[in-house]
Amino acid sequence: MNKIISQEFARTSQGETVHQFILRNENGMQVEIINFGAIITSIFVPDKDGNFEDVVLGFKNPEDYFNSNQYTYGAVVGRYANRISNARFAIGSKEYHVTKNEGNNHIHGGKEGFANKIWRAEILEKPECDSLALYYHSVDGEEGFPGNLSVTVIYTLRDDNALEIEYFAEADQSTVINLTQHSYFNLSGKHSAEITDHELQIHADYYLPIDGNSIPRGKICSVKDTPFDFNIMKEIGRDINHDHEQLVFGNGYDHCWVLKESESQIAGNLYHRKSGRNMEIFTTEPGIQLYTGNFLDGKYESKTGGCNTFRTGLCLETQHFPDSPNQDHFPSTILNAGELYKSKTIFRFSARS
Ligand code: BGC
Repeated sequence: MNKIISQEFARTSQGETVHQFILRNENGMQVEIINFGAIITSIFVPDKDGNFEDVVLGFKNPEDYFNSNQYTYGAVVGRYANRISNARFAIGSKEYHVTKNEGNNHIHGGKEGFANKIWRAEILEKPECDSLALYYHSVDGEEGFPGNLSVTVIYTLRDDNALEIEYFAEADQSTVINLTQHSYFNLSGKHSAEITDHELQIHADYYLPIDGNSIPRGKICSVKDTPFDFNIMKEIGRDINHDHEQLVFGNGYDHCWVLKESESQIAGNLYHRKSGRNMEIFTTEPGIQLYTGNFLDGKYESKTGGCNTFRTGLCLETQHFPDSPNQDHFPSTILNAGELYKSKTIFRFSARS
């Protein structure tokens, strides 16, 4: 029976108390989550010899989670994860202008987004395994988005070492939505080591090329014979410094792949040979953004000592495609009043020699 424990984490500068929730399963795997930004602050998983280490980046000083929103460390990102070009879009004949927080564009829900908000937390007690539910109510007009939106995120740690993340939302008028989890993984457990030695598989034949501002401009390109082909497991570092224009634009990988449809909903697999740690990703989402930590600048102290610099963590953000509100041929991100938004992603950990 996996019970969730809660404890005080820190206080914001406004004096609000943020709590931390500890999810532990029967194998000793442990996930720590705070009700600020629905942030995952730690994931402890064993390596091939049974040594537990933390495989997500985070800050040493709890207060840094409240002050450094440019990295969105471990947070649930919304109302719209990734970018909206020119920070505008239309629903029907009505045009909306959302916060410009990356040049002329919008990224990750705006200045604060959902990642910098206090969420209401509730432990859902179930006979075999508790879940943590986090709720956030985003008001009509917040960051420029239309409609009141009620969001629920449910984290469940299962005994097969899978962390399940379920997202639900409802709005009272038509809006756009794209939620994701923004953890930076480093399966080595050594947070100042580069992630280029990790091997990755992404089940995708196509990806979305970007322009110089990291916005996909509508093209859907084949990965064949490019550094973007991860159909067969390959080391991330193998092609990352290739002079391919797309890698220059992203300063490394910072792109969305179009996932192949499969019954199992497997999206990919991340493996770190030295530690033997493996992470499979399953999702109901049509895309996955691989971001190889190309803009991590070591400004904040890491919880394992040292600083998180260039490429010391990578994000695998399951989501709808960036800029969908402006690209009619991408799967729609519109949520109409009365509809239920539902999305699910699973990160399942294992270890092998
Ligand atoms: C984006 C990066 C950005 C990072 C931190 C990622 O999802 O694709 O370009 O630097 O988030 O906000």
